[in-house]
Amino acid sequence: MDLAVALVLCLCSLLLLSLWKQSSGRGKLPPGPTPLPILGNILQLDVKDISKSLTNLSKVYGPVFTLYFGMKPMVVLHGYEAVKEALIDLGEEFSGRGYLPVSEKVRNGHGVVFSNGKRWKETRRFSLMTLRNFGMGKRSIEDRVQEEARCLVEELRKTNGLPCDPTFILGCAPCNVICSIIFQNRFEYKDQIFLGIMKMFNENVKIVSSPWLQVCNTFPVLMDYFPGSHNKFFKNSANLKSYIFEKAREHQTSLDFNNPRDFIDCFLIKMEQEKDNQELVYTVENLANTILDLFIAGTETTSTTLRYGLLLLLKHPEVTAKVQEEIDCVIGRHRIPCMQDRSHMPYTDAVIHEIQRYADLLPTSLPHAVTRDIKFRNYLIPKGTDILTSLTSVLHDDKEFPNPGVFDPGHFLDESGNFRKSDYFMAFSTGKRVCVGEGLARMELFLFLTTILQKFTLKSVVDPKDLDTTPFVNGLLSVPPFYQLCFIPV
Ligand code: HEM
Repeated sequence: MDLAVALVLCLCSLLLLSLWKQSSGRGKLPPGPTPLPILGNILQLDVKDISKSLTNLSKVYGPVFTLYFGMKPMVVLHGYEAVKEALIDLGEEFSGRGYLPVSEKVRNGHGVVFSNGKRWKETRRFSLMTLRNFGMGKRSIEDRVQEEARCLVEELRKTNGLPCDPTFILGCAPCNVICSIIFQNRFEYKDQIFLGIMKMFNENVKIVSSPWLQVCNTFPVLMDYFPGSHNKFFKNSANLKSYIFEKAREHQTSLDFNNPRDFIDCFLIKMEQEKDNQELVYTVENLANTILDLFIAGTETTSTTLRYGLLLLLKHPEVTAKVQEEIDCVIGRHRIPCMQDRSHMPYTDAVIHEIQRYADLLPTSLPHAVTRDIKFRNYLIPKGTDILTSLTSVLHDDKEFPNPGVFDPGHFLDESGNFRKSDYFMAFSTGKRVCVGEGLARMELFLFLTTILQKFTLKSVVDPKDLDTTPFVNGLLSVPPFYQLCFIPV
């Protein structure tokens, strides 16, 4: 047979198969726009503003609808009610992690962010406990964050009040907190190993957010036939894992069962205790992937929020002045802030919540999947179907937060100026997959921002009115525009 004829036949079969697969699932799945064969609904979405596309589609199809990414259906949850009904009321059923082929190639079912089933549950439980200080030896997590806050202000002092882009320094601090928790010690900001680790993680976050990686996740076969940034992603991941394996070997030689120094020690002790368990959750492979996850999930997220926070504080000097007044009143000028202070600082607490609400860092969270066939609002969602939650639709709900597009700490304050808790605050998502690092991230945001504002006045290099605070979505993350500022010592 002629090659061209064979190719045309092949393409036709693929088209028919794709049409058949898409229509066979549609009877039970929620409604949605008609997908194109093979491509699905990709062309109907604005990749630069997925959240806006989802809001527009929800106006036509309601709060629960189906989109096709390639030939794969994805059920979208839009608005507080739908997200709560799924992730909280049916928490177990909606607790699966959506399948991302690029990450799976590195993780192979290990770690915490991309794993599922028993391994996920156990690794998540272990990570949460360790990050909450259980079994982590003498030094508390708070102590480690305070140490980093001190080093951060020393580093900012070196800018001598001159204009600077804070991206690099604000990237170092959260990365170093994770280093201190995982490897026992922080690094100097100029340390070559530290800079190497940061470079590889930063590159990987950029690559993961790139359109090409979304294409690879939708059509995984392309990874095997085309060169591209996915290869750099695999190479960086392999290098980072080798470094972690080397560290684990070093730890093993000096392990003291009665005095674990860090996350690696805690994991190695558990590995020894569980060595006869058939399920083999505690393996060196799982350790390496869990550490990769904590770095990937815990560095760029916190540093981008800090960078967004400083931009919003520059834009709103009246808000900054009130936070500084509260710092003066509760902490004073000399003592380093601690977590106990937060409960006496309702305005600062509201400002940090509002920074996170406004920044809307992960507009569509990470993909979930249903762990069994599930009836949801009269639809039938088959086991394994991917679920996309629009966190933007909850964080920007205009009934809960009037004028959601405006930065206003009043969104989290009652009439008497007390902190007002909101169930709609889902910056860390909700339910069984809720961010493992929520406690740590909130600690870092509070301690870093209060320590900075205790020691410096922030000065914008342009009129604050001219500062643009509109986010631009960069793949998964919503990031602030670049800006410069001066840190003037008080
Ligand atoms: C401002 C900072 C942060 C934000 C806004 C944030 C937000 C999120 C969100 C939205 C998810 C997805 C939850 C879901 O699938 O429903 C997530 C997952 C996760 N985050 Fe965070 N995160 C932050 C910082 C951190 C830190 C500091 C760590 C750890 C050191 C961390 C570790 C994780 C892990 C391990 C997961 C996966 C949980 C799982 O799949 O069970 N995050 N985070």
